[in-house]
Amino acid sequence: MLIAGNWKMNGTPDSMEEFGRMIARAPEATARGIDLLVCPPAVLISKFADRATVSKIAIGGQDCHPKEKGAHTGDISAEMLAACGASAVIVGHSERRADHGETNQLVAEKAAAAQRAGLTAIVCVGETEAERDAGQTESVVAAQVDASAPPSLDAAKLVIAYEPVWAIGTGRTPSVEDVAAVHALIRAKLEERFDVPVRILYGGSVKPSNAAELLAVENVDGALVGGASLKADDFLGIAIAAPKKG
Ligand code: 13P
Repeated sequence: MLIAGNWKMNGTPDSMEEFGRMIARAPEATARGIDLLVCPPAVLISKFADRATVSKIAIGGQDCHPKEKGAHTGDISAEMLAACGASAVIVGHSERRADHGETNQLVAEKAAAAQRAGLTAIVCVGETEAERDAGQTESVVAAQVDASAPPSLDAAKLVIAYEPVWAIGTGRTPSVEDVAAVHALIRAKLEERFDVPVRILYGGSVKPSNAAELLAVENVDGALVGGASLKADDFLGIAIAAPKKG
């Protein structure tokens, strides 16, 4: 079980205090075999990673450029993230797909770049509300998995996050039946191409009060948490609510 926090564009050096509270409470989750990952904004990765050496919280980035270095103003490479202490990076989050026009092809290149640098790539997929209303959820997610997580990736360093776009930051979540159906589809897709099991996270309005129900769903191997990952009590509350599944 992996509980990952995506801080998005939130946090300043003052956030070290809240992160310190997470570190203090982390053993409550890690003692139960739950892996914890926090993905702060890039400017805080070094600071968080230095602090996290005394804890079992892994640190990740929120995006990376496909190339290792070069003339790409404002971008950050996977190698830079790794050198600053990250062990994972989120790629293809729906906010980046929407705000920056990221395509499945680019997301696949970013995932490969992450693995080239030794990072675990957390590849995000998920349908919009219009796609769900049109009955296209399964076809959209299947196409995203096919094109953003190609068989050339290393399954041992791959995580898929299913995040329905309409559930992000809205307080709305799919029914457990809907989560189960999409996760089963993703599992089947992954098993077609990889021999090693790949974790599949659910993301979208996960909070301590709904975590136990969502995390109990078959083929849900953890959560990718946005808003509720900013507070130690909420983040750890989600992790502690996770059932033991291995
Ligand atoms: P919320 O938990 O705020 O809905 O965000 C989910 C998300 O986008 C995590 O990547």
